[in-house]
Amino acid sequence: MEFYPQVEKFVTEAFLKSPHSGDLRHFERTVYWVKRLKPDADEALCIAAFAHDTERAFRDTATHPAAEKSPKGFLDEAFMRHHQEKGAEIILKFLKEQGAPAELSERVSSLIARHEVGGDADQNLLRDADSLSYFENQIEHFISHKVSEVGKEKVKDKFQWMFDRIGYEEAKTLARPMYEQAIKRLEA
Ligand SMILES: [Fe+2]
Repeated sequence: MEFYPQVEKFVTEAFLKSPHSGDLRHFERTVYWVKRLKPDADEALCIAAFAHDTERAFRDTATHPAAEKSPKGFLDEAFMRHHQEKGAEIILKFLKEQGAPAELSERVSSLIARHEVGGDADQNLLRDADSLSYFENQIEHFISHKVSEVGKEKVKDKFQWMFDRIGYEEAKTLARPMYEQAIKRLEA
């Protein structure tokens, strides 16, 4: 784990300077869930788990306003593509600058580039861990802030999508009670 601490420091500093410092817990817990689902997860997968949302700290809201502002809500495909690919690019550049082996840098980058939608086995695993960490950490924020901004329906669609995209049976079983609780809180 030679490069993990460097990425962790880079991402942490970037988020502490951004309006999204509260997301750091989400990243720690995404790493936790990745290791829980795959105890022998390699360094690239752990780095990608911590850094998957890096785009958010560097977002230019003039050119890329938050997804929920789009008529499609949180699930705007173009926004999601940008979020994944820009984050992958930032971390690829950072790892190259640190002298990381190309194989590691490219694997991290390809994991981040598909962390929302999945693809191969490890991209799917990262996507599932992201959902688990989301249900664990971000529900209160969505209910207390996003409902008043965009309405209950768009938030409900987001909860639904974050649950439905989970592919691994173990992850689905772990997420189900959290998802049901989130819907209950939203409807209360
Ligand atoms: Fe995330």
